[in-house]
Amino acid sequence: MITDFKGKTAVLTGAGSGFGLECARVGARLGMNLVLADVQADALDRAEAELREAGATVLAQRVDVSNAGHMEALGRSTLERFGAPHLVFNNAGVGAGGLIWENTVRDWEWVLGVNLMGVAHGVRVFTPMMLEAAGHDASWQGHIVNTASMAGLVNAPNMGIYNVSKHAVVALSETLFQDLALVTEQIGASVLGPFFVPTGISQSHRNRPTDPAQASTPTRSQLINQIMSDKAVGSGKVSATEVAHMVFDAVRANRFYIFSHPQALGSVQTRMEDILQARNPTDPFASKPHIGAELRAALRSP
Ligand SMILES: NC(=O)c1ccc[n+]([C@@H]2O[C@H](COP(=O)([O-])OP(=O)(O)OC[C@H]3O[C@@H](n4cnc5c(N)ncnc54)[C@H](O)[C@@H]3O)[C@@H](O)[C@H]2O)c1
Repeated sequence: MITDFKGKTAVLTGAGSGFGLECARVGARLGMNLVLADVQADALDRAEAELREAGATVLAQRVDVSNAGHMEALGRSTLERFGAPHLVFNNAGVGAGGLIWENTVRDWEWVLGVNLMGVAHGVRVFTPMMLEAAGHDASWQGHIVNTASMAGLVNAPNMGIYNVSKHAVVALSETLFQDLALVTEQIGASVLGPFFVPTGISQSHRNRPTDPAQASTPTRSQLINQIMSDKAVGSGKVSATEVAHMVFDAVRANRFYIFSHPQALGSVQTRMEDILQARNPTDPFASKPHIGAELRAALRSP
């Protein structure tokens, strides 16, 4: 359990914006060394300049988290500069939606590559060096936080590819928690499950690798998903700064599940009851039928 962050090292992926940047800001205030990783060069440069200005010791590296080689290089440069990191925030992620049969192979590769393989690479690269540090010093403490989503616990329609990636991150993280507990008491794990919070997530396509040969125009369901996510994310009432504080509080308390909107967990309970009673999945719009009716009408109109 990390209780004092001063002089410790945090690695943060997706550090150029949103939760990654806000956690880096909290880390800087607590006196941490920061390893900032992001694929978007201008956002990373701005974050690096701001956090240096705030007095933090910073290593910034342009990394595509879906790329195994990039993540291994990030591991090497972290180890060389600061030693094993105490806090690893596997957070970079992208959103994409639409009816699940309309997603292309490229859509699947991009979203699963970033959201799932990015976390898998972070765990694969950093956990062994953390275990080694813990093995050499009985007082060494570390923690890994993976960013999933409420979409990792329920399955809202018209955003299946994102749901699949985030369910996988929940599975990976729960297993990581159990696996770590088999071998050490010195490294904890958490999963962050935000609901809608205003960040850059609904504009994720800004960082999608371009491939003119594969360019396709968005389908109607994808356009509808874009409008609905812009609205839901933009009108979120909990800020990314508040979520960053929740992350650090959970690390201090060695708490696994981190929920930005505990009041939204009723939908998880409904899903669990669907499973336990082997009944068909409940209509997600049962409490707001007009939204369901609008969505059905928009998708069915000729
Ligand atoms: N904001 C929300 O409502 C919400 C809800 C649930 C889960 N999440 C999750 O939170 C995490 C952080 O997203 P955010 O909301 O802060 O959005 P954001 O877009 O503000 O930040 C995401 C960061 O990840 C970076 N990134 C994208 N692809 C990358 C790649 N291949 N390699 C490295 N970096 C990459 C982006 O450049 C960006 O800086 C994501 O995993 C997202 O799925 C967000």
